[in-house]
Amino acid sequence: MNPAPTYYLTTPIYYVNDVPHIGHMYTTLACDVLARFKRLDGFQVKFLTGTDEHGQKVQKAALAAGLAPHEFTDRVSANFRGLTQAMGFSNDDFIRTTEARHIHSCRALWQRLVERNEIYLGTYAGWYAVRDEAFYAESELVKAADGSRLAPTGAAVEWVEEPSYFFRLSAWGDRLLAYYADNPDFILPESRRNEVISFVRSGLQDLSISRTTFDWGIPVPDDERHVMYVWLDALTNYITALGFPDVESEDFKRFWPADLHMVGKDILRFHAVYWPAFLMAAGIAPPKRVFAHGWWTNEGQKISKSVGNVIDPHALVDRYGLDAVRYFMLREVPFGSDGDFSHRAMIGRINGDLANDFGNLAQRVLSMIAKNCGGAVPQPGPRTAEDQALLSAAAELLPQLRAAIDRQAFHVALTALWRVIADANVYVDRQAPWALRKSDPPRMRTVLYCLAEVIRHLSILAQPFMPASAARLLAQLSVAEDRRTFAFLVPEHALQPDTALPAPVGIFPRYVEPADGADA
Ligand code: MSP
Repeated sequence: MNPAPTYYLTTPIYYVNDVPHIGHMYTTLACDVLARFKRLDGFQVKFLTGTDEHGQKVQKAALAAGLAPHEFTDRVSANFRGLTQAMGFSNDDFIRTTEARHIHSCRALWQRLVERNEIYLGTYAGWYAVRDEAFYAESELVKAADGSRLAPTGAAVEWVEEPSYFFRLSAWGDRLLAYYADNPDFILPESRRNEVISFVRSGLQDLSISRTTFDWGIPVPDDERHVMYVWLDALTNYITALGFPDVESEDFKRFWPADLHMVGKDILRFHAVYWPAFLMAAGIAPPKRVFAHGWWTNEGQKISKSVGNVIDPHALVDRYGLDAVRYFMLREVPFGSDGDFSHRAMIGRINGDLANDFGNLAQRVLSMIAKNCGGAVPQPGPRTAEDQALLSAAAELLPQLRAAIDRQAFHVALTALWRVIADANVYVDRQAPWALRKSDPPRMRTVLYCLAEVIRHLSILAQPFMPASAARLLAQLSVAEDRRTFAFLVPEHALQPDTALPAPVGIFPRYVEPADGADA
């Protein structure tokens, strides 16, 4: 037998300067759906997330909290680990950049770059934005209303002048452009790819990769007055987790190059320009894809601490339920575009797509089976063209979902699922099994069988998106836990007539506004 194909995907590692918010949850959620999908589709998956703990921004936050940096990062990193646990995310590892394995890996990568003459010592004199942990050229800055200069992201900049090691990024422009040309899907979505290409075409400067004015970072080998630039440190996490510098390790050989780095649009340049350049310079293959997703606003407003409209993922889930939040975030906005979070839109999805469309379908079918078929999977008779059309529509979903998921088009995958849910609802209305109960019981059993089998398909395919609800539906169809992977989406594994079914219960409750209106 061939070994299972592999799939390695990563989230950005989160800065521990703050508590986790909806933006962090979104990136990890998207990866969680992908990881679950690939596992159900027979892949050996490695899904990595973690925390980015060094650098000036984190050091400042520790100082403000009155704690030593390592005490502070231990505390805040635990909040991020807690988020992944509370959300039931299926990551296989959680990396912290303060771990010994990572410090060792970064220093080894640095040494490789030195050996290959990719690093030289000089002096950096220029602008730096601590909030972005990024260097900016004079020409990139914008003027604020009060005349002061800001980074193009709106972050405050400060003038920095210090001894620094540089990476010869300027020498990598052509090779990066060639890599983008040879790998047209390396950067998605397409619009972002074009932005990166024009940035690289405009010419790259050598990159400052060490700092001397603070010390919360990984010391540079053989020159410990310098700590490594936090982005070089952070990006390296993706190979640390595979055992780098041991490139002969099982994990490294199996999973590198990564299939996907999922990132927000704000950090694309680091992943699509600097990271592949560092890797190529070190003689390591670049990742296969970087996908940049959009940003959420809250009721139309930019999310920020100063506005006070930061959305706490725990509160969100307490209010609407985990699967509803998962569904909403991936259905509401085409993945890659910006999106707005609003209570109204959320309720629309919960009561419309989940309760009315999917929930009612399952509820109607399962309760008719409970009442009229002795609480067991009914025995079907000959199929009509309508039966066949509906079953075929369900059977055609897997290839459609695979294609969508392979381009991170979650909304396309969900739309395809909901098209079949709509077809099934139309079919129930047309076939009217409640009328057949008297006029033609064998035909009623065929109709209910077809519907139950379609719900089996829908539930198996919905698992990556709504794991708990899909599991409850599959339990209601008495589908054993070891028969829920995509390999079971074939006629040979269709529901067995006469299998006993548990008493049906609703899966997707309607959202009812609390009576006191305090929640509106
Ligand atoms: N530490 C770096 C990443 C290093 S990866 C080697 C970092 N951390 S972060 O905590 O600031 O941001 C992590 C992710 O959260 C980014 O992908 C960012 O795009 C995402 N989001 C932050 N706010 C967001 C929204 N309002 N909406 C969606 N995602 C947003 O950057």
